[in-house]
Amino acid sequence: MNTASRPQTPTVSRFCTRYQLSTPIALAPMALASGGALAAACAQAGALGLVGGGYGDLAWTQREYTLALPAATTGRIGCGFITWKLDEDASALDWVLQHRPRAVMLSFGDPRPYASRIAAAGSSLICQIQRLEQAAQAVEAGADVIVAQGGEAGGHGMDALNARAVITLVPELADWLARHAPETLLLAAGGVADGRTLAAARVLGADGALVGSRLWATQESLAPEGAKAQAVRASGDGTARSAVFDVLRRKNWPAPYDFRALRNDLHRQWESRIDALRAAPDAARAEYDAGVKAGDFSRAHATVGEATGLIQDLPPAAQVIARMTAQAREVLGQISL
Ligand SMILES: Cc1cc2nc3c(=O)[nH]c(=O)nc-3n(C[C@H](O)[C@H](O)[C@H](O)COP(=O)(O)O)c2cc1C
Repeated sequence: MNTASRPQTPTVSRFCTRYQLSTPIALAPMALASGGALAAACAQAGALGLVGGGYGDLAWTQREYTLALPAATTGRIGCGFITWKLDEDASALDWVLQHRPRAVMLSFGDPRPYASRIAAAGSSLICQIQRLEQAAQAVEAGADVIVAQGGEAGGHGMDALNARAVITLVPELADWLARHAPETLLLAAGGVADGRTLAAARVLGADGALVGSRLWATQESLAPEGAKAQAVRASGDGTARSAVFDVLRRKNWPAPYDFRALRNDLHRQWESRIDALRAAPDAARAEYDAGVKAGDFSRAHATVGEATGLIQDLPPAAQVIARMTAQAREVLGQISL
């Protein structure tokens, strides 16, 4: 190997320096879970707090982003959106931009049509991608940060045919960015849920990590309490990727994206018969809706990734961030070959 061509992982995270963070963690902008209280708690704990603007619901985004605004004085509050939904209605993005967020994160679609208005608001652009081949488009959009999302992540991502694993995607992207866009920062997303995995992200060449599942399982998260309790009980074997819950929830996600959540009884019933489910979804949807109404997570979904196996409690977000940071520092100081 020609070591000269390999980027060195900088000792101090460039992500911390550029965003004035005390830990290289960003809260993932999780739709319906990353509300204003969670984003504010993360910002106050020294991380970047991204409100989950998700599907671009204007009223939800206004309410939750407003709750996070007092913490915006930290300079660590931003918002994320699902890009293909913005193509239908970008009013929530335009509303957020009036408040000059520190960063806007776009995932799942072409970010280029939105880049100039995000830059005009003085916000930085974070683009989440799943494959190396998407990196050039993110750089062309002017991404300040690229998030490399692996297939182990909770929520939406690339389907099994297309998903990459964090352990190879991150170093490959770090090498690519060193050659093509050395000022663009890199975060790892997928499975980062404790100090070991945060340290691993840094060792792989990322400037930090985007953390979803672990911060979803906190007191401030808006996820249903029953779903969080289910995630505490599950091991990392207990999740699966598929389109089942998207069909049940009437979400018309485009290929090649699908969704990782706990693999419950209703999921098992349909996971190998997805075409049949799409062709005649009504009865299964009624069962799913009844599960949601009853808080029965054998039928309703709990959105968490493989990191669920590393989640054993539901503390305040600040505690999660402090623990992850302290353990990562300890691990990085201890390991040798
Ligand atoms: C409950 C939940 C909801 C999510 N919603 C979104 C979303 O609205 N937009 C987005 O870009 N990513 C979303 N994600 C994916 C995250 O951005 C991130 O890639 C993922 O959480 C990282 O993996 P981890 O869950 O193992 O930490 C979601 C993830 C979870 C767990």
